[in-house]
Amino acid sequence: MMIKVEKIMSMLQTEYVGREIHYFQKVTSTNAIAKEEAKKNAKAGTVIIADTQTRGHGRLNRKWISPKGGVWLSIILKPTIAAEETPIITLATSTAVANTIHRLHTLKTEVKWPNDVLVNGRKICGILTESSIEGENIKFIIVGVGINANFNLDVLPTDLRSTTTSLKQLLRENVDLERLICVFLKEFEEHYELFKKRRFDALRDEWRGMAGFLGKNVEVMSFRETFMGKALDIDENGALIVELENGERRRLLSGDLTVRE
Ligand code: BTN
Repeated sequence: MMIKVEKIMSMLQTEYVGREIHYFQKVTSTNAIAKEEAKKNAKAGTVIIADTQTRGHGRLNRKWISPKGGVWLSIILKPTIAAEETPIITLATSTAVANTIHRLHTLKTEVKWPNDVLVNGRKICGILTESSIEGENIKFIIVGVGINANFNLDVLPTDLRSTTTSLKQLLRENVDLERLICVFLKEFEEHYELFKKRRFDALRDEWRGMAGFLGKNVEVMSFRETFMGKALDIDENGALIVELENGERRRLLSGDLTVRE
């Protein structure tokens, strides 16, 4: 057992996020378990945590490698919101992770659209938000968070090593995983409360303050095409606005960015 739920419970300062935790040593994917639990009427704020995932997944149908020592967790939420507002939850989650890592370990963290947290330009955390929609209504939202914590990059496939980092790689020691989880869940709850109060501007402003790629030239890979442009801003729904060389602007709801400066 790597992660100790009792220790989390003894330190947790939230009101409802993580007040119920389902812990597993090994799962397929915490997001998959969270979906099952959400359908079985799990309370909002319930968290699924695993030491390792055999079929962790990322955005755009990518595989997410989840070795022991990482923080792999999913939060079940049941907000009454419109589907187009969900990207703001993902932005708020990246801000919460970036704040957590910065506060606990004094590392300079950045966020990158749509869902990454970076240290030294390398990915330290990925977020996968999945929602279940019935008609116009959202039944539940699962926010899956993967933080590369207590493992070195040599346990990852070689092609990932140049773009990824981990807390252990950066700090040369293991961090307290339970403390990391507690601080993150508290940060998350605070941001989610702002979201529920529809303080989208405040959430967006905080995220922007950590978005080092804004104003830079980026290569955008969307599902249709790849193009170069300047990352201008995100709009009120979390969509990225990119300006092409000819001045034309594009609004992106999903895709991948590489900074080219
Ligand atoms: C991405 O960067 O593409 C998102 C990665 C999200 C990974 C986390 S780990 C916990 C949760 N369970 C999953 O299968 N994925 C998310």
